[in-house]
Amino acid sequence: MKFFVDTAEISEIKELAASGLVDGVTTNPSLIAKSGRDFKKTIAEICEIVPGPVSAEVAATDTEGMLAEARELAKIAKNVTIKVPLTLDGLKACKALSSDGLMVNVTLCFNANQALLAAKAGATFVSPFVGRLDDIGEDGMLLIREIRQIYDNYQNLTTDILAASIRTVNHVREAALIGADVATVPPSILKALVKHPLTDKGLETFMADWAKTGQKIV
Ligand code: E4P
Repeated sequence: MKFFVDTAEISEIKELAASGLVDGVTTNPSLIAKSGRDFKKTIAEICEIVPGPVSAEVAATDTEGMLAEARELAKIAKNVTIKVPLTLDGLKACKALSSDGLMVNVTLCFNANQALLAAKAGATFVSPFVGRLDDIGEDGMLLIREIRQIYDNYQNLTTDILAASIRTVNHVREAALIGADVATVPPSILKALVKHPLTDKGLETFMADWAKTGQKIV
């Protein structure tokens, strides 16, 4: 499973990229607004830090507008992935952009039929939003399971499932068990994945016992 980091904060991306755990980055208009920075400059900086796919979302809602914005965003770097919404206009844009060889992430996916359409439109990634479904009392992980099953039923559907709107470490574990290809996770969740109290306690004991030996390795 690949990990993308779901943020537009350069300092966080730099820190996590140094761990070797970051395979790509996803941004959205809300994350760009939160960063308070220039969109295209931010995407350019992220693309220099992370060589994997970096999702940059169009702001237009009509196909022509999305295509014009996508062509502009694609000039930034080779690893820019154009993010389009899961609407009919978005799917038309996805078809055109993927036919031109660009990576496309179809976002705001909330049911399995939408994911099927995204794959048929040639999406590189489809982003089912797990947390937002859980928020309204639905089962976000069930959606990941359904999409996995549908994509596995048809060899010609090669779109990667990018589990998005990940809110907990359990979301990551469950998405991995189901076989999502990628999880895009907020920096705090990526950091939390490494933690276990018994690891900390065990390390503390080992260090205390090692000190008793009076030895040094180097
Ligand atoms: C990823 O591409 C999405 O933009 C993101 O995961 C949305 O997460 P949220 O529902 O926590 O805003």
